[in-house]
Amino acid sequence: MKKSNKNNTSLNEYFLLKMEKEEQMLNNFEAKFPIKKIAIRDKNLWRYAEGIPLDQNNKISFNEGFTPLLAEKIAGKTVFIKQEQLFSSGSYKDRGATVLISKVQQLGIKKILNDSSGNAACAIAAYAAKAKINCEIYVPENTSAAKTNQIKAYGATIKKIKGDREDTANAAMKAAQKTYYASHCFNPWFFEGTKTFAFEVCEQLGWKAPDAVILPCGNGTLVLGCYKGFVQLAKAGVITKIPKIIAIQAANCSPLAEMFSKKLSEIPSIKKNITIAEGIAIANPPRAIQIIDAIKKTNGFFIKVSETEIKKSWKKMALRGHFIEHTSAATIAGLEKFLKNNDEKLVVSLFSSHGLKNH
Ligand SMILES: Cc1ncc(COP(=O)(O)O)c(C=O)c1O
Repeated sequence: MKKSNKNNTSLNEYFLLKMEKEEQMLNNFEAKFPIKKIAIRDKNLWRYAEGIPLDQNNKISFNEGFTPLLAEKIAGKTVFIKQEQLFSSGSYKDRGATVLISKVQQLGIKKILNDSSGNAACAIAAYAAKAKINCEIYVPENTSAAKTNQIKAYGATIKKIKGDREDTANAAMKAAQKTYYASHCFNPWFFEGTKTFAFEVCEQLGWKAPDAVILPCGNGTLVLGCYKGFVQLAKAGVITKIPKIIAIQAANCSPLAEMFSKKLSEIPSIKKNITIAEGIAIANPPRAIQIIDAIKKTNGFFIKVSETEIKKSWKKMALRGHFIEHTSAATIAGLEKFLKNNDEKLVVSLFSSHGLKNH
């Protein structure tokens, strides 16, 4: 485990550095929000045209986004749950995929690869199919058929890699030195999509920021996207405060929660136990330092949830008619814990993926 972490670290650094220029350019972008113009546009995430630095001609889109923000009573309090399970590929990852694959299309790239055992790969494969881009997905050899079947259905090629998730990341990063790396965690264009979650939440609340958002956290694509989105809204003067970001991890694989609580300067080498919240079971997230920094800057924190808590929340939601993936139930378990111990009034969370993803 230690050895694989070390190998990954140097490749992680290589890719973060490789994308650094692009990332800097995107970080310096000044998003604008012409509210009256936005209000009369189609109800999808591309309505924030002045907030996404990409030419919208030839975009690869299924008209995705503007998912309903549903009021729900949880732990005796009314909160708002964004219905992100309703995206075309079944999870919020379509936000990142539509922007990233649109960029790839504009660059004229015809072949991409990514590594993921789950929803990010499904989303990227779906948008690559629409764009007729050749897509290769690296997965650990023991990845469940539910997700690989969806990836294959879109026409993507699956490369099964021996070993664990870290070995797969390693193999993909080596191959990505030759093929375009449409990575949901390294490629900054993915975050240009996930940040629209924050834009939509604020618009749906009447261009107001919530007090807290409760989000799942593995590689942090939603945490970092949301942070970026709220910061851009605040810089543009649309909102007056950044909400607290509360990041949820499964207790069985919670390196970031540990890094945060022990004030460590790098990701600890943890023992990863199996969790039903497989989407957030990431032992070595490459953007760990950025994630911790974002959470701190919002005065947020991490909450860990046990397998029993995840199962209980999953059942509770299903009995109310919400069929979500176990990974999504982890967020709801964290939301329940948060609401029991905190007084924030306007709280937003999400169902991050559909229950048909469970196997
Ligand atoms: C359903 C679901 N929710 C949440 C997440 C967490 O996203 P991230 O790993 O980017 O933090 C994932 C990741 O794959 C997921 O599949």
